[in-house]
Amino acid sequence: MKLKIAILPGDGIGPEIMTQGVAVLNAIADRFGHEFEYNEAICGAHAIDAVGDPYPDATHEICMNSDAVLFAAVGDLRFDNNPTAKVRPEQGLLAMRKKLGLFANVRPVATFDCLLHKSPLKDELLRGADFVVLRELTGGMYFGEKYQDDFKAYDTDIYTRPEIERILKLAFEMAQKRKKHLTVVDKANVLASSRLWRQIAKEMEPDYPDVTTDYMFIDNASMRVLTEPTFFDVIVTENTFGDILTDETSCITGSMGLQPSSSLGEHTPLFEPVHGSWPQAANKNLANPVAQILSAAMLLEHFGLNAEGALIRKAVDASLESNVRTPEIQVEGGAHYGTKEVGQWIVDYIRNA
Ligand code: IPM
Ligand code: MG
Repeated sequence: MKLKIAILPGDGIGPEIMTQGVAVLNAIADRFGHEFEYNEAICGAHAIDAVGDPYPDATHEICMNSDAVLFAAVGDLRFDNNPTAKVRPEQGLLAMRKKLGLFANVRPVATFDCLLHKSPLKDELLRGADFVVLRELTGGMYFGEKYQDDFKAYDTDIYTRPEIERILKLAFEMAQKRKKHLTVVDKANVLASSRLWRQIAKEMEPDYPDVTTDYMFIDNASMRVLTEPTFFDVIVTENTFGDILTDETSCITGSMGLQPSSSLGEHTPLFEPVHGSWPQAANKNLANPVAQILSAAMLLEHFGLNAEGALIRKAVDASLESNVRTPEIQVEGGAHYGTKEVGQWIVDYIRNA
């Protein structure tokens, strides 16, 4: 298969983990006879420094003219510590999501048996946890009307029927392909926008009689994902709740560095780690490349390259089981592997499999 892939390394640890993601794609291309054409583009703080815009038009052009975007992370301490900065790297990510129409963010949550002990939660609670959080990505408070002065500030949590319907449709369909259990997470006891979500979900329920649908308030869901993670199959929720919930669910896997995601919608699909740019670790060969590598696997699977995706997953599992791990998940006394070494081990495994 021929694929044109836009490569957006971004900031912080982004370029280092992206190098490993691309190396893995190259190993797959060689093994399976695919042709991947890469077009690299700037975004985030790098792009602000270069052209004053965290998601420049030239980058958008490249994304629009590609089959898929592989994205790493944006963010920089210079901006985090400056609340008055007018242009911020994160605005680039939001502009990219909006302009590419990426309304559905798929964040799978699974466990690796050999890492169960790395989670702050008890093994017996976690074993078998396997669910997906479908986060709405282009609406809600992130994009609603905002206002800020020295006395008053607000963000508007606004959703329209079409925005809610299209993400719920995906959620029901995803549940049909999985364990047929959908949990709609909202705050319908307080928020009007949540009540519209719930109303529309209830209207749609009869169209999916094979799916068991339940409803949970976000505060309760934040507890249940940790106390009973095996209860869930597909969770669908609005933008802000999904953002918060998926940092929380990364504790189930054991490290943020293991969580990939895909963002789907109207234009080019995008694949990215759930974690951020971790600027403190940049250029230290410390960051876990696995989330980026698994994002590349999700990219391939999106195009039906399932054997290719499966081989990447097998290589990642093997690396973890062989204790070829970055420091945050390494066993006590285990050998030191950096970003490069973990990536290279996975590439070698794929090439020799
Ligand atoms: C995420 C991140 C982003 C978000 C930030 C970097 C803007 O936290 O992808 O979860 O809030 O969506
Ligand atoms: Mg987040």
